[in-house]
Amino acid sequence: MKLILLGAPGAGKGTQSEFIVDKYGIPALSTGEILRAAVKNGTPVGLKAKSYMDAGALVPDDVIIDVIKERMGEPDAAKGFILDGVPRTVAQAEALEKMGVEIDLVLDIEVSDENIIERLSGRRVCEKCGATYHTLFKPSQVPEVCDRCGGRLIIRKDDEPETIKARLATYHEQTEPLVDFYRQRDKLVEIEGSYSVEKTRDRIDEVLGALPK
Ligand code: AP5
Repeated sequence: MKLILLGAPGAGKGTQSEFIVDKYGIPALSTGEILRAAVKNGTPVGLKAKSYMDAGALVPDDVIIDVIKERMGEPDAAKGFILDGVPRTVAQAEALEKMGVEIDLVLDIEVSDENIIERLSGRRVCEKCGATYHTLFKPSQVPEVCDRCGGRLIIRKDDEPETIKARLATYHEQTEPLVDFYRQRDKLVEIEGSYSVEKTRDRIDEVLGALPK
């Protein structure tokens, strides 16, 4: 199974991909996570990406295409994967097609900008394993401590209010055109993402369960 999770920043792509990974046993390939690790480790990719990420802008397509090509070539991605946060421009989507990547389905998680701001303002992530929480909607059992691994929960640097606005503007301008791109290819399924984590998960499960085995 090869899936793309499309949606605005904070729509719930990372949250829902955690569930798909657990249930379907395919890895989530998140360019955001790969880039954050690269920035943390000070690699050449991280050095190129940092200023764009801090500003809520997109990292250049050539950097992303190299990153995702390399990640898709790892052994765990041989039987399928979820692309979380990529493609994010028409140029990235076309590059995937040129590479011969055949996508089964694109799940477009739709949430209003108002909800996005509320979600990103309360988001906490585990600095160790990357698990995602929300202070109101998905709190950890012990405040500021990850349920999965006991790591410390932190606020992402790009979840500052001004950066959230910039990320949303970037999304509408550069990523939203992908909705039509994949609709034209008959791959798009719209998922109402403003419901609870569980209700959204059930809808995604229903859609994936109906895919031919
Ligand atoms: P990336 O890490 O991909 O960030 P994003 O797309 O902005 O997405 P997020 O991780 O912020 O949100 P999400 O949809 O995963 O939501 P989540 O599940 O966490 O990218 C970061 C940066 O890297 C980009 O800005 C860019 O600079 C660069 N980059 C990455 N990929 C790139 C690419 N392909 N091209 C160019 N540049 C790239 O949920 C959010 C919060 O809401 C959480 O707190 C969660 O608990 C809560 N929540 C989730 N679902 C619900 C629900 N149903 N109800 C209530 N709360 C919910």
